[in-house]
Amino acid sequence: MSISEKDKNFIWHPYTQMKDALPNIVIERGEGAYLFDDNGNRYIDAISSWWVNLHGHGHPYLRDAINKQFKNIEHVIFAGFTHAAAVNLGEKLLAHLPKNQSKIFYSDDGSTAVEVALKMALQYWHNKGERKTKLVALEGAYHGDTFGAMSASARSAFTAPFQSFLFEVEFVDFPSAESKTLAQLENLFANNDVAAFIFEPLLQGTAGMKMYSPELLEKMLSLCKEYNVISIADEVFTGFYRTGKFFACDYQNEQPDIFCLSKGLTGGTMPLGVTSCSENIYEAFLSDSSDKVRTFFHGHSYTANPLACAVSIASAELLEKEETQKTILRISQRHITFANEIRGNKRLKNVRCLGTIIAMEFEGEDGYFSKMRNELYQFFISKGILIRPLGNVIYLVPPYCISDEDLDYIYNAIVEFLER
Ligand SMILES: Cc1ncc(COP(=O)(O)O)c(C=O)c1O
Repeated sequence: MSISEKDKNFIWHPYTQMKDALPNIVIERGEGAYLFDDNGNRYIDAISSWWVNLHGHGHPYLRDAINKQFKNIEHVIFAGFTHAAAVNLGEKLLAHLPKNQSKIFYSDDGSTAVEVALKMALQYWHNKGERKTKLVALEGAYHGDTFGAMSASARSAFTAPFQSFLFEVEFVDFPSAESKTLAQLENLFANNDVAAFIFEPLLQGTAGMKMYSPELLEKMLSLCKEYNVISIADEVFTGFYRTGKFFACDYQNEQPDIFCLSKGLTGGTMPLGVTSCSENIYEAFLSDSSDKVRTFFHGHSYTANPLACAVSIASAELLEKEETQKTILRISQRHITFANEIRGNKRLKNVRCLGTIIAMEFEGEDGYFSKMRNELYQFFISKGILIRPLGNVIYLVPPYCISDEDLDYIYNAIVEFLER
């Protein structure tokens, strides 16, 4: 049996209606911005494989970091034990995070990073003996697929089967009308029962690459400070220069209390989640050992996996290089130039850019289940380009190693689609 046939027989894929799914493309290897299938076809990975890959596939520096770490220790329990990779990564992340961040808590992926953040915020108020139990999120939010993360995400077809099991979260309008969102937030905060406000800073990815301004984020964070509400920045997607700065929150002065990181954290090589918090939050969990209830009883078997931590350090080192900074700027500028070229095309509702991300929304049926989705996907696959439309929205989130030639090739394919 071929891999493709075995795949059909044995495997259940995520976010896939298995009944009429097209056969999955079998990827044999990756190199830089390219993926190669078992028929020798090449695809430009224009979405960094679910927004994770930063430096291209098979990067030798990352491979060496994993190999080197494996020679020492590949995994060890992270309670009662620690290791250099986790500690050094923590130190490195804190050097890049805003000054108010003080401690690093490890988990497995984006959803668990969010899950940890929500539990941290709720237990913070519990430990303080204050009844603040409400959570507030932005309409359209996506924070992951575990129950807490789903609860904090927009109610949608993704969450419908679990509706009665999700805890209550108040949603404020997506910030398209700034004053409305701020007024709604202030109204909720004024009741003095809100534990935390969770948001994707500047960009809601899964909602369709929807963007809002740093000025508004600054105002939302100021409200959190004013009303003593814990602010949680879900930077799972936006972190690690996706938006042009190390973190999306680097665009404003006011800083959140908690950060959630994953995806690009390991350069797209291994699963790892991080939730960082301020000293103030951390201290609310401290108590004498006789009083165990303040402890944060949360952990995973693979918490702070040494291979994942070691490769994250290597990925951060690559990010710190001047040439990476230059290429991030290059991609960002090229996106803006291309956006200006196609803006106003009658088939497009709008085109938006933020750092290394460009998104365009097509006229026609809106939303994740738009019929355009498959047509768009197939067109670009036939051109050897991997994109994964969000309904009628296509976007590019390329690895930072992508060449100008490959960007031109993708831009030309988009123009060809527009002119069809
Ligand atoms: C902003 C945001 N938060 C959380 C998640 C969940 O991450 P994961 O898929 O690693 O669980 C995602 C995934 O797309 C995301 O975009």
